[in-house]
Amino acid sequence: MAHRKRYLFVCVNRRPDGTPKGSCAARGAIELHAKLKELLEARGLAQVEARACTSSCLDACWAGPTIAVEPDHFMYGRVGLDDVSEIVEALERGERVERLVLEARDFDEPKK
Ligand code: FES
Repeated sequence: MAHRKRYLFVCVNRRPDGTPKGSCAARGAIELHAKLKELLEARGLAQVEARACTSSCLDACWAGPTIAVEPDHFMYGRVGLDDVSEIVEALERGERVERLVLEARDFDEPKK
């Protein structure tokens, strides 16, 4: 297998129901990872361009589901299933979906 140009780490961490922070798995990250993998494969990007991996908590739970994109070193947040095709199309063009990119303030846990 080739060393891919990019690795997309989808947080699939799950916390018990009712945990105030919530978790990406509880917000649909498992399905998100599956769809990302499926679309990368379908577009012929999975072998060289990008691999969809799972990850434990990326520490921006309140902005989840999150995806860390490396080596570009940015994170997508609040990603829904409907966003996945846009992410893959942008990746194909060497771009990113700006409206989903987390900003510095998104990494601060909101005060209760
Ligand atoms: S549970 Fe996904 S970022 Fe923490």
